This record gives sequence, structure tokens and C-alpha cells, in this order.
Amino acid sequence: MQNDGPLRTIFVAFLLCVTCSVLVSTAAVKFKPQQETNKKLDIKKKLLLTVGLLDNPKAKADEIERAYQQVEPQIIDLKSGNVSNEVDVESFDAKDAAKDPRYSVAIDGAVDIAKIKKKSRLAKVFFIKKQGKVDQVVLPVHGKGLWSTLYGFLSLDSDLKTIRGFGFYEHAETPGLGGEVDNPRWKELWVGKKAFNNNGNPAIKVVKGTGKGQHEVDGLSGATITASGVQALVNFWLDENGYGPFLAQLKRRMNNEY
Ligand SMILES: Cc1cc2nc3c(=O)[nH]c(=O)nc-3n(C[C@H](O)[C@H](O)[C@H](O)COP(=O)(O)O)c2cc1C
Repeated sequence: MQNDGPLRTIFVAFLLCVTCSVLVSTAAVKFKPQQETNKKLDIKKKLLLTVGLLDNPKAKADEIERAYQQVEPQIIDLKSGNVSNEVDVESFDAKDAAKDPRYSVAIDGAVDIAKIKKKSRLAKVFFIKKQGKVDQVVLPVHGKGLWSTLYGFLSLDSDLKTIRGFGFYEHAETPGLGGEVDNPRWKELWVGKKAFNNNGNPAIKVVKGTGKGQHEVDGLSGATITASGVQALVNFWLDENGYGPFLAQLKRRMNNEY
């Protein structure tokens, strides 16, 4: 082969491509388990920050795991609201389950205000207890914003009406617009709001401007589509197609047990 001929150039370029793709795919395969572990750890951290069991967003793995020991996960059947032993509580992932034919159920378009089309019939909820009594119950929620599906946690007080914390752990809304859902000042506005009206129906409203009412939260300037999506997803998950049956059951359980 000629030293500076076109064939040699093509051959070197080809060799470079092959070497790089082998390197990239080896790295992708090698680091995948670590990425998965980090992702799970980040979700735990977001849950802990939402419920106030952690206040350092830069907390390290051991600090997160230690704080997480105070969290009691439980699998529930969304339709009946009952506790379920069908799956392993630690490994269950509702996001994966929503795509798994064993657990996935379609949501009727007429009631699908969160615009998610399907959901897992099982869900993992979390209890935070104080002196053996339920202090907060944490509900995973998700729904469509403008560009993405937002995944997060909504924490209710032991009265099962008052919001104690709210935050997302995954979304792809625009930083500075829809991405302001992550602004600590905005998340703080949710604390103390009443999730249900006097008839027991989900009643959260994300309003343009300042939300002064007990069910109202300020909108996000320039990001009304994301804000409306957040309102819809919260109300969807608190209603009968979400955690409604579970919250009704839990109310009965708490009245009997505590
Ligand atoms: C590049 C770009 C990114 C945007 N990202 C978002 C977003 O993440 N969330 C959102 O609700 N609106 C976003 N918008 C604005 C929406 O198109 C829409 O104008 C806005 O939601 C209306 O809200 P407003 O009535 O408060 O202005 C974006 C617009 C542009 C041009």
C-alpha cells in the first residue's frame, strides 16, 4: 500500500473508527451497572430531600443509605388499595412495570389527564414513621410536561391531605423555564397546601401569578405548559385511578391501628 495514497487514508480512518467504537461500547457495557447504581441512589436522595430526612443535596452514598433506613417501602395494588406481596419490594420498579405486560394497564383517554397512556397496576409507596406512627406517606407520581415525562415524589402528612414535600427526580423540561420545577423556592410553595377539597376530591391548582388559596401554588413564568402538566399529574395520582383507593384504605388502617 502506498504511504500517502487514498487507500491508506481510508484504511487508517476505518481502523480508527473500529478502535473508537470498541472502546466506547466496552466503556458503555462496563460502566452500566455503576450508572444503574448511581441512578437508584439519586432517586433515594431525591426522596429523602423531599421528605426532609436529608438536607444536603450533595450527600454521599453512605449518608444517603443511612438516612434511607428510615424509609419503609410497601407494594400496593392501585385498584384495590391493598398491600400486595406479588413482587419483591426492593427490586420492584414501577417505571419498568408500566411497560411489562404482567403489570401494565392502559388508562382510558377520558381520565388520562397526566397523559401517560398506561401505568403499572402495582405501585411502591413509602412510609416515614415517627415513634412507630406514620408521619408521612410518599407517593411516586409522573406525567407529561411540555417535552418530557416528569417523575417525582409527593409526600402527604399523616392527615393524608396536607402536602409535606414535593419534588421531581427526572424530567427533560427546559432549564430556566419548565426546569424551574426543581427550584427549591417553588418546591417550598407546595408545603402545607391541601391536596383535597371538602368533598375529598383532588383540588391542586397551579395558577398564573401568585397562588394564595389553600389548594393553590404559583405558576411558572413562561412555562405554563409544564406547570399545567404538573397540576394534572398531581391530581391524577391523587384520584381514583391513582392512589385514591390506597389512601382510603390507609385512612381506615391508621384509624384502627394507631
Ligand atoms: C426553546 C423553548 C423552550 C421552552 N421550554 C418550555 C418548557 O420547558 N416548559 C413550558 O411550559 N414552556 C416552555 N416553552 C414555552 C412554551 O412554548 C409556551 O410559550 C409557554 O409554556 C407558555 O407559558 P406562559 O403563558 O407562562 O408564557 C419553551 C419555549 C421555547 C421557545
